[in-house]
Amino acid sequence: MSKVVIMDHPLIQHKIGMIRRKETGTKDFRQAISEIAMLICYEATRNLPLEEVEIETPICRAKAKALSGKKLAVVPILRAGLGMVDGMLQLIPNAKVGHIGLYRDPDSLKPVEYYCKLPADCAQRQVFVVDPMLATGGSSVAAIQMLKDRGCRQIHFLCIIAAPEGLRAMEEAHPDVDLYVGALDERLNEHGYIVPGLGDAGDRIFGTR
Ligand code: PRP
Ligand code: URA
Repeated sequence: MSKVVIMDHPLIQHKIGMIRRKETGTKDFRQAISEIAMLICYEATRNLPLEEVEIETPICRAKAKALSGKKLAVVPILRAGLGMVDGMLQLIPNAKVGHIGLYRDPDSLKPVEYYCKLPADCAQRQVFVVDPMLATGGSSVAAIQMLKDRGCRQIHFLCIIAAPEGLRAMEEAHPDVDLYVGALDERLNEHGYIVPGLGDAGDRIFGTR
């Protein structure tokens, strides 16, 4: 069974409220997406393993904690996932970054693959897949399958807004993947857009509409 964590932190809820507003412009939208990604990253990395290390403070020798050398990768689903990368790297700056290119065919709503470039040792890394929107789930289910086909096993998925339909599709297809969700919305409309949602995330991040 997937672990599903829906964020309840007031800062995340406030910033999601900002990006839902139709009058929020590209600059503020982009900045809020990045900040929300950083806050969700904080939750999604809660279980990273630690080890004890010997250090010297200005006062004395002491034992301290350090991340136990676990290798991490951030994989955005293009395009909109790119908006979450900087926020993720603020907290995990040593992570490598892979890219998966998928777009959703507007008629069939099925994902169409156009790009995949991953770190060479991605299969040995804990992978954090990021995409602001989980609607039908077609894109994220396909992206995670692409990672599994290339040997990745430890995969987490982070999104900002999810529809119940997308969550169900992910849980069914990839029950081994933990899901970190900024907000769970009501439903999809007849065009496959999340209601109330925030519109087209890629267009709002890049100012293309
Ligand atoms: C959006 C979004 C997801 C996908 C979600 O991307 O960023 O990748 O739709 O929908 P789904 O869950 O029904 O697959 P889009 O296809 O609009 O591409 P873009 O990011 O390049 O704009
Ligand atoms: N993709 C988006 O960008 N927004 C939605 O509501 C659904 C899919």
